[in-house]
Amino acid sequence: MNQIDRRQFLKFTGAAVGLAGLPLAHLIRPKALWGSNRDLPAFEPDVEIYLEAVHRQVSLLPGPATDVWTYQGKVVTGPADALDLSGRSYLGPTFRLKQGQKVRIRFLNRLPDETIIHWHGLHVPDRMDGHPRFAVGPGGSYTYEFEVLNRAGTYWYHPHPHGRTGYQVYGGLAGLFVVSDKEEAALPLPTGRYDVPLVIQDRVFDQDNQLVYMPGGMMDRMNGMLGDRILVNGRPDAAMGVDAGTYRLRILNGSNARIYHLAWDDGTPLTVIGTDGGLLEQPQQKASVLLAPGERIELWVDFSRIFNGPGARLVSLPLPEAASGRMMGGGMMGRGMRGRMMRRRPLPEDLTFTVIRFKVNAGSGKRLDLPDRLAVLERHNPKDADNADSPRHISLAMAHMQGVINGRVFAMNEVAADEIVRLGATEIWEFSNRSAGMGMMNMPMAHPMHIHAVQFQILDRWGVTHDGYVDQGWKDTLLLMPDERARVIARFAPYAGLYLYHCHNLEHEDGGMMRNFRIAG
Ligand code: C2O
Ligand code: CU
Ligand code: CU
Repeated sequence: MNQIDRRQFLKFTGAAVGLAGLPLAHLIRPKALWGSNRDLPAFEPDVEIYLEAVHRQVSLLPGPATDVWTYQGKVVTGPADALDLSGRSYLGPTFRLKQGQKVRIRFLNRLPDETIIHWHGLHVPDRMDGHPRFAVGPGGSYTYEFEVLNRAGTYWYHPHPHGRTGYQVYGGLAGLFVVSDKEEAALPLPTGRYDVPLVIQDRVFDQDNQLVYMPGGMMDRMNGMLGDRILVNGRPDAAMGVDAGTYRLRILNGSNARIYHLAWDDGTPLTVIGTDGGLLEQPQQKASVLLAPGERIELWVDFSRIFNGPGARLVSLPLPEAASGRMMGGGMMGRGMRGRMMRRRPLPEDLTFTVIRFKVNAGSGKRLDLPDRLAVLERHNPKDADNADSPRHISLAMAHMQGVINGRVFAMNEVAADEIVRLGATEIWEFSNRSAGMGMMNMPMAHPMHIHAVQFQILDRWGVTHDGYVDQGWKDTLLLMPDERARVIARFAPYAGLYLYHCHNLEHEDGGMMRNFRIAG
């Protein structure tokens, strides 16, 4: 065990390739050197961006700097504000693009590991989607070209090489991709410094402030990697000064495996205005919100009206008992056992902890009234689904300590007959999390399921109920508790090709809880 543990202590260095430390200017290379992975058809980008994955050191804690892997980039053509480089610690730059813009991203891998970027939530052609079959080795490059088709919303990007996604995201590789559109621009929403992205992650650091990945070995592989420190926008003990005004908080759970149960510490309800795929039809008040890895939520908050006193805390409440096998008190996965097997205990999921503190500055800020209508959502009618009478069934389970989808694990190019969807079809997919009540070989686990290429709507859930779900808007990731079932509906368009669906617990994903599906045109 100790030997395995030691091997899993990470050094996120760039030493293995001689590329570390090159200034970004070296990225600007003659066109001929780029895009060797594909022949470029006529594509006139509105925005052209260079992006590289590099090793860097950032100061996160008092004492030594932390080795991280990170994306850095610059806008080469197009509006300079297409990349927001501010306040992001190890996180990648935030893309800020408009619906309809065409973007070209030239990516260079300067890490000692193969990688590829996936644009989570975006509708892109399959060769632009970051499937692991396109991973490029150290020194390799990849050119992405796509039009931003999505509606306004908070999307994100992260690595997707098979078996290495958890490790690489944990090392720091992730960033936001914010899309705006005309419908959103017409609304009186907070903008500029009142529009704040919050990326929530958890990490474990060793005595030298270095990141530690999966110190619990097999247990972490099964549960997913849980940290003992919460970071927001790449900063531990996050605190933010805010005006006594109205804010839009765009929250991404960028953690490998931790599910958050978000609430204001004083019990003020959360005002939810958006989800994975953008604004809701109307704001919703929620006592608390469950946010699984990969999911996004947007909150409206008026720090002048709701809170008395000097500040507010966004906390994570205990997870509902049903959330995962990690919660089972006395069982095999109980905390007694974890405690013995791990050097460090992750933050327990049955306690309340602080995610971020907001300190309200004296004086006044810009205040806005919450609109009662936010957006018009085109609703899919289940009656119109091409498979209305025979939904596609996707059963999730933990079999012999490995997550499986319909009993299968990932194989790079494999698509089963029941994983082919017709281009343009509207389909109902029914997920059932059967990982409960079946003894040791099938442990109760929560699985946040993510489908590439589409945004879906959640039709219904049954088996378990929790009022922390926000199921009304467009979604690309959906949390399923043990014994829970849910039906979603999506239109598989406009691109044909090979895409992925998988559990967004990244250790489950890397362990093979992922499958291809083909949109056949
Ligand atoms: Cu965010 Cu296939 O992942
Ligand atoms: Cu995705
Ligand atoms: Cu899972």
